[in-house]
Amino acid sequence: ETIEWDAEETGKSGYDHYMLKEINEQPRALRQCLRARVDELGSSVDIDTVGDLSPSGLQFVACGTSYHAALYGARLFEQAGIPARAYLASEYATSPPPIGDDLVVGITQSGETADTLSALREAKRRGAETLAVTNTVGSTATRECDHALYIRSGPEIGVAATKTFAGQLAALNLFALATAEDSQTRRSVIPALRDLPGDIQSVLDNSTAAEIAEQYADAESFFFIGRRYQYPVALEGALKLKEISYEHAEGFAAGELKHGPLALVTDQTPVFALVVGDGEIARKTVGNIKEVEARDAPVVAVTDGQSDAELYADHVLEIPETHPRAAALLTNVQLQLVAYHVANNLGRPIDKPRNLAKSVTVE
Ligand code: AGP
Repeated sequence: ETIEWDAEETGKSGYDHYMLKEINEQPRALRQCLRARVDELGSSVDIDTVGDLSPSGLQFVACGTSYHAALYGARLFEQAGIPARAYLASEYATSPPPIGDDLVVGITQSGETADTLSALREAKRRGAETLAVTNTVGSTATRECDHALYIRSGPEIGVAATKTFAGQLAALNLFALATAEDSQTRRSVIPALRDLPGDIQSVLDNSTAAEIAEQYADAESFFFIGRRYQYPVALEGALKLKEISYEHAEGFAAGELKHGPLALVTDQTPVFALVVGDGEIARKTVGNIKEVEARDAPVVAVTDGQSDAELYADHVLEIPETHPRAAALLTNVQLQLVAYHVANNLGRPIDKPRNLAKSVTVE
């Protein structure tokens, strides 16, 4: 008797797609990212010599999903009082801003994205110190940059970036904690980072994203809204959905809806609202939920249940309560699952979407 053995099927370890396997690998990938880098007490971070940098300003350059991580990273440093901005690498390469003494940080899972490499080269040509935040040891980005911070996510095969986005957000937290933030912040964020593998596992075990995806797979358009750390997640949720399902999707800063996009909202446009905590940001996002609800849009609240978002939502995707910075990784897992299940319902080739490559090596 012979046993049929298919390398690709074996690589998927029983999952229908690499994407679903990689979504499910996030707890392990994050444990690996954090291992030996944060201490038990939550007071210190060790990311080798990268932790010795003390940037007075930062410019992040990246593409696609990594650009969304860049927006998140810039927000972390801004909140710590250090000027930081995220740039699309393709724009930066040809229209760079003044660099001054800024550290230029390229975020690139593969370390081979041509646009990001061009932006980093342009920064270097202008005399900037550069750092690559990457998954790939020995990649061009690591060879050309002055410093490298590895996200340690393990190989990612699906074209859609999933566990590497989580790794980027975690690594950016470590970078900010080590170089820009005080011990009080470290003590509140590190325990939340350490809880992430378990919190993500609980989202994976309890998510009802598959049912919601089934109900709305035929929608005209999908909108995602969020504020502060949830804004990049809204953009990422929309990118993931359009990339693998071929459906129209847009992510917005929740406050921008009323400045135009609200005109598109109907009962055919499910709105995924990311609402964390019960502070001003959550209250304002709940206000935005009411705006779309009044236009009959189905609302899915992705929330930790601390605000009254659930009162106005048609569906809820729950996440455990945690620090708002860590919550971004949890809401993102729910949106990864929504994208995956919408695409699966529509029978799309999830791991190899049309027209896209895992690593884009042309400008
Ligand atoms: C993510 O799902 C995409 N496939 C894509 O946007 C990707 O993030 C982008 O091409 C950047 O890749 P990099 O991180 O390898 O530089």
